[in-house]
Amino acid sequence: MTATQTSALVACEERLCAFVRRHTGLRIHDHQLENLRRTMQEAFARFGHTSCDSYLRALESAGAASPEHEHLIAGITIGESYFFRDQSQMDFLRQVFLPELIERRRRQDERYLRIWSAGCSDGQELYSLAIILQQLLPDIDRWNLHLLGTDINAASLSRAMRGRYSGWSFRATPEALRQQYFGPDGDQAWQIAPQLRRRAKFSYLNLNEDSFPSILTETNSLDLILCRNVFIYFDPGVVLQIMAKLNACLVPGGCLLLGTSDLIDSAAQEGFELHALANAFYLIRGHDAPPDAGFAASRREIPPPEPAKRAAAAPLLPSAAGTPLAEPQEIIALLGAESWAQALQAITQRQQAGDSSAMIWQFRAKALANLGRRREALAACDQSLAIDPADKHTHFIRALVLLELNRLPAAEDALRRTLYLDRNFAEAHFQLGLLQLRRDRRPAGLKSLRNALAIADTTAPDRRLHDAAGMNHGRMAAILRNELEIYQQLPGGKKK
Ligand SMILES: C[S@@+](CC[C@H](N)C(=O)[O-])C[C@H]1O[C@@H](n2cnc3c(N)ncnc32)[C@H](O)[C@@H]1O
Repeated sequence: MTATQTSALVACEERLCAFVRRHTGLRIHDHQLENLRRTMQEAFARFGHTSCDSYLRALESAGAASPEHEHLIAGITIGESYFFRDQSQMDFLRQVFLPELIERRRRQDERYLRIWSAGCSDGQELYSLAIILQQLLPDIDRWNLHLLGTDINAASLSRAMRGRYSGWSFRATPEALRQQYFGPDGDQAWQIAPQLRRRAKFSYLNLNEDSFPSILTETNSLDLILCRNVFIYFDPGVVLQIMAKLNACLVPGGCLLLGTSDLIDSAAQEGFELHALANAFYLIRGHDAPPDAGFAASRREIPPPEPAKRAAAAPLLPSAAGTPLAEPQEIIALLGAESWAQALQAITQRQQAGDSSAMIWQFRAKALANLGRRREALAACDQSLAIDPADKHTHFIRALVLLELNRLPAAEDALRRTLYLDRNFAEAHFQLGLLQLRRDRRPAGLKSLRNALAIADTTAPDRRLHDAAGMNHGRMAAILRNELEIYQQLPGGKKK
């Protein structure tokens, strides 16, 4: 290689490293350069690029769904994982955190758990949780379990969905467990039991993007997040941002587990309490965690009412406490700022003063839903719909609450009502798609996701989703493209 060729190669590597860092948050260290070089050369040959410019253009322009992009991510990410990794943490979950959470939910007569494995690789971590829950819940079929695994590597996600593993993945798994929850599948491979596979959901999510917390990515109101052995190659500044967003994904008292090698700066623990039990370290979201204004845009969970429905109703009595009543616009601002408790207080005062409009009940439903008071939120939706049965936003809020409660047939009905009122409600198509996939209706689910994509694609990319869903149409289109791509890679997943 001539000196000119060598310096062109080095320049190309540098540009590629910068792209990787910008897009994924990952920092390529010197010892990984060889791997990056190999991946790049392979890409040139496979996709017919003759220059660095054309390769980088393909990476930049087509986004995460392009074959170049997938190939690059598969080449540079390290997906090492195995079942029941980190015995101390698994013991903590099995013996302490999950039994206590389950007991608390039973006392409240609630049967749901929301768990996310972020950076899930081939799914071993999430399936380990599914096995633990199978052991802890004798009445598991009566529980609503939201078990979500996400990763940036589409090939890993396909393997996770398939649920087939070689012996190396079982190096920390007792033989009896493997026998009980896996069936032999060909040469030295094991297939996860179908009921466990059905319980887990896998989807694309880049931790370096603003797509969480959000109902669209199902990363809101979580009880437990495992983000283990993911931060090791990240830029420290990026880790700080991700930690704040993970905090916002959890309910107060929710738990985040990191890997033992994920050394993080103490600033990243803001909003968390650090605990240790035996050898397991874990972080708990404090009950008074500050609202993370920096990520407010990605935290909106439930949309506000349509502007047309925002006008105040009849004149109201002064508040009993003599304090001025909040105007609807002020309540909208409080909801927009996610000051749920304050908004609820203002709403209650207006209701006590005689405001019984559909709008105020809708506001109430939204605040209650975001405070995790799901049953009361449903009752407030019902009150609102009794006055105005044709409000698509109230139907949508109701659908989201029902989804969180895993009441899937009722949630589906509410989403269909939303779409009956507005065929172009992209988020409703999106949620309907996810719901149908969860109900094993793959063609219908993919069709709904494609509907959502078609709407998102014909809308200005920077237009917010119903002005408060935390994302714009461009971002939703990118998420949908990835989701569809992954499903199409699965057996029987070809586009119809
Ligand atoms: C070493 S594996 C950890 C798997 C599992 N959490 C465990 O501890 O066994 C790290 C995973 O993080 C994923 N990852 C890396 N960068 C990511 C990003 N920006 N967003 C989402 N996942 C990412 C990689 O694709 C890989 O699957």
